[in-house]
Amino acid sequence: MLITITLLSLHLIGVGLIVGAVILSLLISYQSNLDLSALKNFKLIRLTGSLGAGLAIVTGVIMAWRLGVPLKNNPLFVTKLALVAVDGLIAQLVIRRWLDNSDNGQAIKNLRGWAWLSVVIVVLIVVISVTRAKL
Ligand code: HEM
Repeated sequence: MLITITLLSLHLIGVGLIVGAVILSLLISYQSNLDLSALKNFKLIRLTGSLGAGLAIVTGVIMAWRLGVPLKNNPLFVTKLALVAVDGLIAQLVIRRWLDNSDNGQAIKNLRGWAWLSVVIVVLIVVISVTRAKL
C-alpha cells in the first residue's frame, strides 16, 4: 500500500513537472523581447520537464508491471504510451534540436506551434490516464 502510494505520488510529481514545463514554454513563446537570458531560462525549464518525464516513465513502468496492466486489448493505455512517445520525440528531436542550434530568443517564438501541440498532447495523456483510472 505504501509502495503504491509512493509510486503514484512520484508519478504525479513527474506529471506536474511536465505540465509546468509545457505550459511555461507556451507562455514564454508569446513573450516579446526574448533575449539570451530568456533562452537560458527556457532551456532550464525544458530540462526540468525532461527530468519530470524520466520520473513519470520510470514510476509508470513499475506501476504498470506491479498492477499487471495488459497491453493487449487495452487501447486507452496503448494510446497513452504512444502519446508519451510522440511528445518525447517533439521535445527531444524538434524543440531541443532547434534550441541547441540557435543563439537567440527568436528560436523560442518560432517554436510556438510545437509548444501548442505539446500542451494538447500532455492534456490528452492526463485525461486518458484519469479516465482509465475511473473505468
Ligand atoms: C511510459 C510512461 C508511463 C506509464 C507506463 C504510465 C503508467 C501509469 C499507470 C500504470 C498508472 C496507474 C493507473 C492506471 O492503471 O492507469 C498511471 C497513472 C497516471 N498517469 Fe501514467 N504512465 C506513464 C506516463 C505518464 C505521463 C507522461 C503522464 C502525464 C503527462 C501520466 C499521467 C498519469 C496520471 C495523471 C495518472 C493518475 C490517474 C489517476 O489515478 O487518476 N503518465 N500511469
